[in-house]
Amino acid sequence: MNPVVLIVDDEKPTRDGLRQALDERFEVYVAADPREAQQVLRSEPVDVLLTDLRLGADSGMDLLDEALTLPKPPVSIMMTAYGSVDTAVEAMRRGAWHFVTKPLNLEEVELLVARAARGREIESENRRLTSENHELQKKASSQSAGLERLIGKSQAMMKIGEMVTQVAPTRATVLIEGESGTGKELVAHALHDLSGRPADKLVIVNCAALSPQLLESELFGHEKGAFTSAHQRRIGRFEQADGGTLFLDEIGEIDTSTQVKLLRALSERTIERVGSNNPIAVDVRVIAATNKNLRKMVTEEKFREDLFFRLNVVNIRMPPLRERAEDIVLLASSFLREFSEENGRTLKPLSDRALDLLRLYSWPGNVRELRTAIEHGVVMSNDESIEEQHLPGFLDGNILPSTPEMANPSVTAEKDLAPQGEFNLHDLEMNAIRGALRYTNGNRTKAAGLLGISRRTLQRKLKDLPTSSDSL
Ligand SMILES: Nc1ncnc2c1ncn2[C@@H]1O[C@H](COP(=O)(O)OP(=O)(O)OP(=O)(O)O)[C@@H](O)[C@H]1O
Ligand SMILES: [Mg+2]
Repeated sequence: MNPVVLIVDDEKPTRDGLRQALDERFEVYVAADPREAQQVLRSEPVDVLLTDLRLGADSGMDLLDEALTLPKPPVSIMMTAYGSVDTAVEAMRRGAWHFVTKPLNLEEVELLVARAARGREIESENRRLTSENHELQKKASSQSAGLERLIGKSQAMMKIGEMVTQVAPTRATVLIEGESGTGKELVAHALHDLSGRPADKLVIVNCAALSPQLLESELFGHEKGAFTSAHQRRIGRFEQADGGTLFLDEIGEIDTSTQVKLLRALSERTIERVGSNNPIAVDVRVIAATNKNLRKMVTEEKFREDLFFRLNVVNIRMPPLRERAEDIVLLASSFLREFSEENGRTLKPLSDRALDLLRLYSWPGNVRELRTAIEHGVVMSNDESIEEQHLPGFLDGNILPSTPEMANPSVTAEKDLAPQGEFNLHDLEMNAIRGALRYTNGNRTKAAGLLGISRRTLQRKLKDLPTSSDSL
């Protein structure tokens, strides 16, 4: 049976257009106002609710609230006029799953509805599988959180969402590639959340953080006496993750001997603890991530080709933020809300000029850098809105399209994925100090307080800031 979709819009042409676009793959109901919509919601098992935010005098938000009280609430997608993204973000905070802006791109809507329906299917499957066990049921509801944390409505992010839903429930090994800060870890979590594997069985290993020998025993464990410091038997991460997911972060950093062992573990689905020849069977779903160009490492013989193919069964490539500028405002709104709440500030809008700056910047540190910039803005602003001068100063210095990647995109494919312009911590720090001093009119004690450092530390750091006196 096809998934059931309810379309709510007060304009007939929109209703008809949507009905036509969705009719083939879904069982479609339409309603012109909240009253009609509620009747359908009560009598039909609606999987996906697609509603306009403004329904004549009524609000789609109230309808959303109503829908969420149903015993099996539909996945809700809000339609909103271009430019009222803030209301849409509010709707998402209240429990809507996604939103689309008008004028509608029918293909986009169709994709989104299909994704919603698929998520819903997985959700009810999870519910069915776990209905006898209350503990497990709690987990099922957190599993639907899988994709919700991954914000973005660009074509590229929609594709990633689709891929995640598609491959999550399988056993396939996934390789997530992308620059630093693009959301690789978030995707790994989503894959696990939607995998149907026990929620608490996600084991994460950062391969860059350990020396080769330590990494090997971290992954596979060791027997007592395997090497001089092995006083106890140790269970490795593979065994810990049995039945669940093992996330190998920064996979590009593992040494050749561990690469061989990992290949064995992946192809034979057994591991051996260091110092033992006893194979132990494990059922582990492996997800790996890297910001290196593994293909290039393979040609340079730094990474084993056979292991690369084992890992790269499904490839998810996270697009850099500069290639999906349409997500910037949406991400910024969400971070704005997050940090306003966290810092007990009232929610303020970003000024037009500040928004322009965010849109134009090239974001070498991707979403992580945007997140930090918004946090900076929230903390620094004591005006009605967040202005250009409250954002980190470096935003001015790295504006598109001056980055080499943009000038010649074909070169990018062959290069390492790591950002070209190094993300300079020192500059960031100096900018924060400048901002804090500007904010406090040069009062060093207050500025130090704002930055969470002692006045003495600030003094010391100011010595590193040769132009500090001019810029104040
Ligand atoms: N699409 C997104 N929606 C919301 N938040 C995001 C998104 N992508 C990334 N973030 C946030 O940006 C930060 C960096 O993301 P994450 O740690 O997943 O990046 P990464 O690709 O693993 O980076 P690295 O290579 O440096 O480890 C996190 O705070 C994450 O929550
Ligand atoms: Mg990461």
